[in-house]
Amino acid sequence: MIQSVNSIPAFDIKQQYASIEAEVNTAVLEVLASGRYIGGPVVAEFEQQFAAYHHVSECVACNSGTDALYLALRALEIGAGDEVITTPFSFFATTEVISAVGAKPVFVDIDATTFNLDVEQLAAAITSKTKAIIPVHLFGLPVEMTGLMAIAQSHSLAVIEDCAQSTGASWAGAKVGSIGHIGCFSFYPTKNLGGCGDGGAITTNDPAIATKLRILREHGSKTRYIHEEIGVNSRLDAIQAVILQIKLRHLDFWNQQRQQIANYYYQFLSQIPGIVPPQELPGGVGVWNQYTIRISGEGRNGASAKYRDWVRSQLQEKGVSTMLYYPRPLHLQPVYESLGYQPGQLPISEQACHEVISLPMFPELTQQQQDQVIYALKDCLS
Ligand SMILES: Cc1ncc(COP(=O)(O)O)c(C=O)c1O
Repeated sequence: MIQSVNSIPAFDIKQQYASIEAEVNTAVLEVLASGRYIGGPVVAEFEQQFAAYHHVSECVACNSGTDALYLALRALEIGAGDEVITTPFSFFATTEVISAVGAKPVFVDIDATTFNLDVEQLAAAITSKTKAIIPVHLFGLPVEMTGLMAIAQSHSLAVIEDCAQSTGASWAGAKVGSIGHIGCFSFYPTKNLGGCGDGGAITTNDPAIATKLRILREHGSKTRYIHEEIGVNSRLDAIQAVILQIKLRHLDFWNQQRQQIANYYYQFLSQIPGIVPPQELPGGVGVWNQYTIRISGEGRNGASAKYRDWVRSQLQEKGVSTMLYYPRPLHLQPVYESLGYQPGQLPISEQACHEVISLPMFPELTQQQQDQVIYALKDCLS
């Protein structure tokens, strides 16, 4: 048995910075010297590069992934009286924006292996008020987009992909964010493509939507001091854009590192009774923003959040830091009490909230560290 030699963090963004430090520092200093800190050519260049990476015609950079989703809904003129279908197992921002534009979130339960919205259950949730679907490619694993797009098309629904955790992932050969009508990305520092602060972007092949997004992110204004509608201030800083330009060049390599780690974890963790490792669907190439397992409680009268929390504390004692994404599903959040969802209504999501543990996952995680995680888990569950 390997003893814990060093503590392993759940993520480590300092190592990534260290690997490109000189390049980033030079570029940031150039931006500082340029005096163009918001918008400008560096942001425009990044938008072109990000669009090209996704093989889409348009990219509109903004201040965060949350803003990207909000602006997408606004651009599609979704608001009061409308319903938007999404997953109950995601970060709160996914539904917060639906409520922020005055629409109603409608939740569809998830698939047990991918943690993503179960496309089989989608059609039953569509009503005459449904305007859009927001699939979330959670933890970097793509949603089954072929089936989802077919359902959306047959009901004339817009599809806004929440790609906050999945930059670089693909489904059936197409990058996520280029499959639906709009793709929304977060550049929060721990994302696959993470800046050194907040940032976000929206991708689309629809120039009219892109024009609308550009107006909305600039206080509803196309011409300075002439305001056509109520917008927001949501621009990407030039310093973030130049850092993201550099990091975009390394993204595929970093994502491959994550994929190798995920394969290694799977090889061993799938052999340990009591652990259900995540699996991507055939057709999907995941980028593993998180490696999230289920602690199934096999042989211990089933799973419980208490048992999962005990496993986490044991791992921490063995020097393995973990994260808990997410302890409570969105349909049971206090703020959504008025929507009337009851415990037990979306059982797979609710069970996931009791069972999940996100293991250390970042491109620089060494094989020795991966072994330490695996042995620590084996030890806890034996
Ligand atoms: C699935 C998902 N959607 C949206 C967001 C919001 O992104 P941001 O933090 O950049 O606003 C996040 C961020 O964690 C996320 O994980």
